[in-house]
Amino acid sequence: MVVREILTAEAPILREKTKKVSTFDASLHRLLDDMLETMRDAPGIGLAANQVGIPLQVAVIELEDTIHELVNPQIVKASGEVVDWEGCLSIPGFVAEVTRHQKVTVKARDRHGKEFRIKGEDLLARALQHEIDHLNGILYIDYLESLEELVRVSEHADEVNEETTAGI
Ligand code: CO
Repeated sequence: MVVREILTAEAPILREKTKKVSTFDASLHRLLDDMLETMRDAPGIGLAANQVGIPLQVAVIELEDTIHELVNPQIVKASGEVVDWEGCLSIPGFVAEVTRHQKVTVKARDRHGKEFRIKGEDLLARALQHEIDHLNGILYIDYLESLEELVRVSEHADEVNEETTAGI
């Protein structure tokens, strides 16, 4: 497994819609393995393939010792609203308060192409929404009225949930 470079917000690929995966082969498995390694190294709790320069609908999330590999993920159900701090590995050092659905159901494929559904609440729901946004070229700063809402992690460490600070 290889730690790949994580691109930061100004990279154009982060603003492009990624393509659906149609071949579930060794190169996809290598990408997923490298993404997990890269996310852990950062460290973070979620990573989308375009953050490492690959324009495919692939994301990984690791929360509570569970790894979620998501290929072609789509939100099929969403409910509730919750405001919490959110960070992103492509916007290092900053967080902001972002409104997200409290609960989502996501349909995706695994690394072998098998379809599954995952339900998430709170932080897992936030991470799922954040990663699927990445795959559609959206960053959490797009939801802010002004970039002045960004807060330096170092200045607000006590207020901010450690896991979201780590970046998704
Ligand atoms: Co992110």
